[in-house]
Amino acid sequence: MKNPVYLCLAHMGGQEQQYIQRAFDTNWVVPLGPNVTEFENLLADYHGGNTGVVALASGTAAIHLALVALGVGKGDEVMVQSFTFCASANPVVYVGATPVFVDSEPHTWNMDPDLLDEAIAERIRITGRVPKAIIPVTLYGMPYNVERILEVGLKYGIPVIEDSAEGLGSRFRGRPMGTFGTYGVLSFNGNKMITTSGGGALLCNAPYRTERDEMRERILYFATQARQPLPHYQHTDVGYNYRLSNVSAGIGCGQMAVLDDHVRHHRHLHRLYTERLADVPGIYVMQEPHPDYESNYWLTTILLDAPLRYSELSRLLAEEQIETRPLWKPMHLQPVFSEAPAYVSGVSEELFGRGLCLPSGPMVSEEDLERIVTVIRDYALAQQ
Ligand SMILES: Cc1ncc(COP(=O)(O)O)c(C=O)c1O
Repeated sequence: MKNPVYLCLAHMGGQEQQYIQRAFDTNWVVPLGPNVTEFENLLADYHGGNTGVVALASGTAAIHLALVALGVGKGDEVMVQSFTFCASANPVVYVGATPVFVDSEPHTWNMDPDLLDEAIAERIRITGRVPKAIIPVTLYGMPYNVERILEVGLKYGIPVIEDSAEGLGSRFRGRPMGTFGTYGVLSFNGNKMITTSGGGALLCNAPYRTERDEMRERILYFATQARQPLPHYQHTDVGYNYRLSNVSAGIGCGQMAVLDDHVRHHRHLHRLYTERLADVPGIYVMQEPHPDYESNYWLTTILLDAPLRYSELSRLLAEEQIETRPLWKPMHLQPVFSEAPAYVSGVSEELFGRGLCLPSGPMVSEEDLERIVTVIRDYALAQQ
């Protein structure tokens, strides 16, 4: 029986249980408590001086609350990267707004800034209203074109919510992803760069402390049922129960100690995949397009040239107990979003038809990688 190799399994660094024990010892087995505060402080330190952090129940909740805080609601439009996981777009629908999907550029696979610019201009022409937010994604850990997307946001006065759920540890020009937009979104789902078994965070970005604190307070307010500061329970807004628990935050505190190791390991595996597959015909390993872009390589992804087929390769790898996954199916092709406006260039559809995610997590060893590479090499050479 061969050892199974999974796409990206969680890996505990060793300190997590101490923090969980602390929650039990101090009876803070509730949402909020010292682990939550410590986790938020560790995340804030990691992301530099201009970021206030709110730990939340999921990355999806973080996107939802960013939209709520920006006042996005019924009848509004939000520009969303089409090539992504559904959680980038679903919260737009939660608030009653319409996602407008924008296709990707070929070298980052993320939101195409020129297409975004054209799309916004057309939405304004058609609807007479300016879209309320832009949601670009750090897909598979690869930064989006931060400079150009922020430029387009500024041109129209539209705030950016960075979906950096897959991008913890990635950087653009040396600065962490998630710190460029008005808000940045992180996920600590079981398969992400670090985990809290389930959780997320919203980064509130502003140069002045007072502004940052205000943003943070507003998010906390909506994350805890929008309770007014009165002795009795008084509500003037609809709120949510979206805070991370003190027990989960304890796992997060322990995981922060191994985050840099995780990033190094993901990048190391990506380098090995690149080297070992360099001479294999018809296989391209996705790369950083320019030194400005530093990916955490959450997942190493490959593209296959015809006649190679990703579904066939995936089947062969599955026979060897190796888990893979097709690239995200673009949102504009999803039945649930069939009515949503979309600005499509064909890039994401082509990627979806040609690509595969390879095992990349901290539990993947060099021996595992050799097994994977052997299957890919044998398949590609057999098709020659
Ligand atoms: C691009 C992207 N956005 C958002 C999310 C949502 O994060 P969560 O699963 O923590 O809700 C995920 C991951 O699941 C994701 O991959």
